Amino acid sequence: MSAPRPVRPGRGARVPLLLPGMLALLAALWGGLLRLGWQLPAPPTPLAAFHGPLMVAGFLGTVIGMERAVALGRSWAYLVPLASGLGALALVAGSPGGSGALLTTAGSLGLALLFVAILRRQTAAFTVVMALGALAWLAAQLLWLAGWPGYRVAPWWAAFLVLTIAGERLELSRVAPVSGAARVAFLGAVALLLAGLGLGTADFDAGIRTVGAAFLALALWLARQDVARRTVRQPGLPRFVAACLLSGYAWLGVGGVLALVHGGVAAGGAYDAMLHALFLGFVFAMIFGHAPIILPAVLGVAVGFRRSFYAHLVLLHATLVLRVAGDLLGWLPGRRWGGLGNVAALVLFGLCTAWGVLRPPPRARS
Ligand code: HEM
Repeated sequence: MSAPRPVRPGRGARVPLLLPGMLALLAALWGGLLRLGWQLPAPPTPLAAFHGPLMVAGFLGTVIGMERAVALGRSWAYLVPLASGLGALALVAGSPGGSGALLTTAGSLGLALLFVAILRRQTAAFTVVMALGALAWLAAQLLWLAGWPGYRVAPWWAAFLVLTIAGERLELSRVAPVSGAARVAFLGAVALLLAGLGLGTADFDAGIRTVGAAFLALALWLARQDVARRTVRQPGLPRFVAACLLSGYAWLGVGGVLALVHGGVAAGGAYDAMLHALFLGFVFAMIFGHAPIILPAVLGVAVGFRRSFYAHLVLLHATLVLRVAGDLLGWLPGRRWGGLGNVAALVLFGLCTAWGVLRPPPRARS
């Protein structure tokens, strides 16, 4: 029996679906700088208040939704990036009538349903872990809709990204099959993360410390099992990707240790440090490393690798060290300049990637 031919938007039609997510990223960066105290022109809408949702639900929700829709290859699946993208636009516009929260929540519900279809097609450790990530995003959105403050929702947003990325590493790098003991350790860390999220609803401090322990365990597991440990010895793109992955795992570990030590803080230096060790150091290092691999599959464009790609990776890590040091030492200039440097690293990443697409180096041209 032949499988039904998938109906899906062409690659060109995927670009407009991603544009709202890109706008959300820029708006979130603006809001983040305002929250760090930089005197920028104040936008007419509350970008600073929506910084977290714009980043996680507006930008990453749209990008991850698109990636999974392409993987599933069914036309209805593109409603996921459409919903979160429209939600992103509504958030940028100030979320009239709460439409930003509602639409991004619809996107998260769509991603959970998309994973039902993926699981029916393939039930494997990596699809289950990514499905749990989608459920964590849905839970985060529902808690946000219910009026929970950002600091209580943030661990759920973080779990969405950590579980999605951990699942993708299992899939992309074929770290599986691993030994039975390693598999139990991985599933144990995932279970600890879910337990921490649950515990946090009753005892926020204990929940955050448990989530931190789970992030640390996952970081150690990924650093030990990922093929990046071997590919880092190869030249060119494989080494760059491995450098992104291994440095990202280090930041996941740092975020875990900070959460373990500081527990349930709601604002201030330790809060900023633990959040952004994870959201910038881990998540964006993963994005830097995966972009040259994922973009060809999603948009059909090749990204020609150049050694100058190390510039945005090094800038991200150096400025994040400055920011986290500023956070933990109460040194405000370090925090503010580090945060500005983080934004510069992300902008440089966008420029280098666009350059790699538009002007690939001679060897990368087909
Ligand atoms: C690139 C530069 C970034 C800057 C300048 C920035 C700035 C900030 C600041 C100042 C805070 C408040 C911290 C506090 O209350 O002490 C914050 C919170 C937060 N950030 Fe970022 N951030 C950046 C990147 C990111 C990224 C990449 C993500 C997610 C992928 C993210 C997600 C969040 C979340 C979820 C919160 C907490 C929720 C909230 O209070 O709204 N940030 N950010």
